[in-house]
Amino acid sequence: MSTPPDLNRRDFLKIGGVAAVGATVGVRVDASAADQSAYGVAFAAPPIPLVRIGYVGVGGQGGGHVNNLLKIPGCRITAVCDVREERTAWAVKTITAAGQPAPAVYNRGPRDFERMCETEDLDLVYNATPWEFHVPIMLSAMKNGKHTATEVPAAMTVDDCWAMVEAAEKYRRHCVMMENCNYDRMEMMAYNMVRQGVFGEILHAEGGYLHDLREIKFENRGEGLWRRAWAEKLDGNLYPTHGLGPIANCLTINRGDRFDYLVSMSGPSRGLQAWAAEHEPADSPKRREKYVLGDVNTSLIKTANGKTVMVQHCTNLPRPYSRINIVQGTKGLFEGYPNRAYIEGRGRAHQWVNATDLQAEFEHPLWKELAEQAAGAGHGGMDYIEDYRLIKCLREGTALDMTVYDAAALSAPVGLSVESVAKRGRPIDFPDFTRGRWRDAAPLPIVRM
Ligand SMILES: NC(=O)c1ccc[n+]([C@@H]2O[C@H](COP(=O)([O-])OP(=O)(O)OC[C@H]3O[C@@H](n4cnc5c(N)ncnc54)[C@H](O)[C@@H]3O)[C@@H](O)[C@H]2O)c1
Repeated sequence: MSTPPDLNRRDFLKIGGVAAVGATVGVRVDASAADQSAYGVAFAAPPIPLVRIGYVGVGGQGGGHVNNLLKIPGCRITAVCDVREERTAWAVKTITAAGQPAPAVYNRGPRDFERMCETEDLDLVYNATPWEFHVPIMLSAMKNGKHTATEVPAAMTVDDCWAMVEAAEKYRRHCVMMENCNYDRMEMMAYNMVRQGVFGEILHAEGGYLHDLREIKFENRGEGLWRRAWAEKLDGNLYPTHGLGPIANCLTINRGDRFDYLVSMSGPSRGLQAWAAEHEPADSPKRREKYVLGDVNTSLIKTANGKTVMVQHCTNLPRPYSRINIVQGTKGLFEGYPNRAYIEGRGRAHQWVNATDLQAEFEHPLWKELAEQAAGAGHGGMDYIEDYRLIKCLREGTALDMTVYDAAALSAPVGLSVESVAKRGRPIDFPDFTRGRWRDAAPLPIVRM
């Protein structure tokens, strides 16, 4: 299945029928493709005027996506699947209240998504389930001829990253991870500035997921039912994609550069134990759980072009929220939390400029167009914008903003960090999921409406 690295783009398209390039989903090469990356052309699928969606996992985050999709033109949720009947009932009520036909319901247990994928006529299977189900659902969708999208992280092991890539190539279907932080207002503004060259050549970036989830992890509902359990199993960065997604676009990962290797270390595991001792009754089984997840995990990634990335995970300690979001180049940098920038030769030397003071000049075009529609949607509106882009691209038959290779490269740090932590921080290589195609792929376009 490997693609020789010296194949150029033209050769690549010519051998479109060969297994290695099975990812060419109904290849279209035309003038309008000029605005698209090499992957863009390769991943364009035939347009779907009305996108029929099967939604799996309509809990906290999935419920938000259902509400978004009901407002986005050109799609219908025609089937819903959840292990909890009250959630499928909620989805039916919400969808019919929006004036759309009642969806088919699948709630006969944790593998009922398979029956949905096998029996329903769907264009897209989109899931927001606990992490262990993401890959099985996507594989079932693709095997049954459906495009597929998942919540983050797409996969928890490197093997599962490969399984996604291989299935997308084999079945020639979109398989994308919906990284909403790529669409946040400030991340998009920083991306816009990077692409305009404001910060010069980008050399270093930092991101993370620093979010006190202790209370949520101990609830007897929602994420409390599954997320804490991962802290008993793995020590590493369990949730790298929010921090890495936006900076990977700035660094042109998979489109001119790629993540090469990673080193990772975790500190002690204290936060969940302390929370359980303080908040759970003495006889609670939760007090007997043994956590291995270090409260602060720090990983460094080196890219093939020699750039550096720091990515952190910290969800078990008291602290304000941050995704860090630093992109640093030869002429300045953007830094999040609080959002600010420094551009050499502009403003006062050595002084930050508030990002809001730069918004009039550098606001990303998508936010200029969609801010009003997105208002009130999940996570400050970014979830609406990502769903909007997903449906729009499917309807128009253009490339999606993210490919299966992005899903794999951004999720792989879960497995790689676990391995590096276990080996005293030794460097662990990223697989080249693109099999050399990252070299010739043009950067992601600026992305417009
Ligand atoms: N992008 C973001 O900002 C963001 C925010 C929150 C959660 N998430 C992601 O969304 C996913 C879900 O998280 P959540 O907070 O909505 O959790 P949740 O527990 O609220 O929702 C999960 C839903 O999936 C259902 N479910 C569980 N197993 C299932 C199965 N086998 N088949 C069908 N349904 C099943 C549950 O009943 C529940 O309704 C996770 O991957 C999480 O990481 C992303």
